Amino acid sequence: MKTILSALATAALVLQARSFPSPGPSAIEARAAEACGFPTIPLYRVVSDSISDRIFTTDASEVEHALESGVYVRQAVLAYIYSNTTGPNVPNAVPYYRLGSAAKTDHFITTSWDEVESAVATNGYEYEGTVGYVYADTSAETGCPGTVGFWRTFDPQLEDHFYTTNASEANAVASNGYLNQGISAYVFPA
Ligand SMILES: *[C@@H]1O[C@H](CO)[C@@H](O)[C@H](O)[C@H]1NC(C)=O
Ligand SMILES: *[C@@H]1O[C@H](CO)[C@@H](O)[C@H](O)[C@H]1NC(C)=O
Repeated sequence: MKTILSALATAALVLQARSFPSPGPSAIEARAAEACGFPTIPLYRVVSDSISDRIFTTDASEVEHALESGVYVRQAVLAYIYSNTTGPNVPNAVPYYRLGSAAKTDHFITTSWDEVESAVATNGYEYEGTVGYVYADTSAETGCPGTVGFWRTFDPQLEDHFYTTNASEANAVASNGYLNQGISAYVFPA
């Protein structure tokens, strides 16, 4: 399906490129960070234009392998979140689940286990584990200051999910065929 659409998609991607600024050289970025007394780690996005996919991961070696494949061509740090191991100790933090579909060449992340189950049962996605821990509620509700909304958008034609902490950007990509699906989680800004 993605292959059939690729000729059509090429024109669209040229336009979309303006909305997705490249971070430049693909060196893996990282900085030490902490929130509410717990360490946080970078949540990376690795992008493929050729198959219209974005991988969301906290695993730096997964970033490296994706870039080495040549299919994925650039990466950025989207946000900071709690790790798999730290997260369970953080009050109010919840797992951030990742799903992927090879047929759709799509990945997405969600705090909703109900959505994981329905995506697997009826929508052709595989559950790929947790990327880390985030908040499902605002700073006011969790008591940990400094979180921002992490917006989720989806282009049903490209079958591509796009996430950003920049609300203006979420609205801007909406004019390029992405549906703004609202705040997926509360995270720490990059
Ligand atoms: C976190 O756990 C998942 C399994 O749920 C694993 O796939 C992933 O690699 C882990 N992340 C890191 C950074 O180790
Ligand atoms: C947020 O997104 C808007 C629209 O794409 C862009 O003009 C602006 O520079 C972005 N702000 C930041 C801080 O990146």
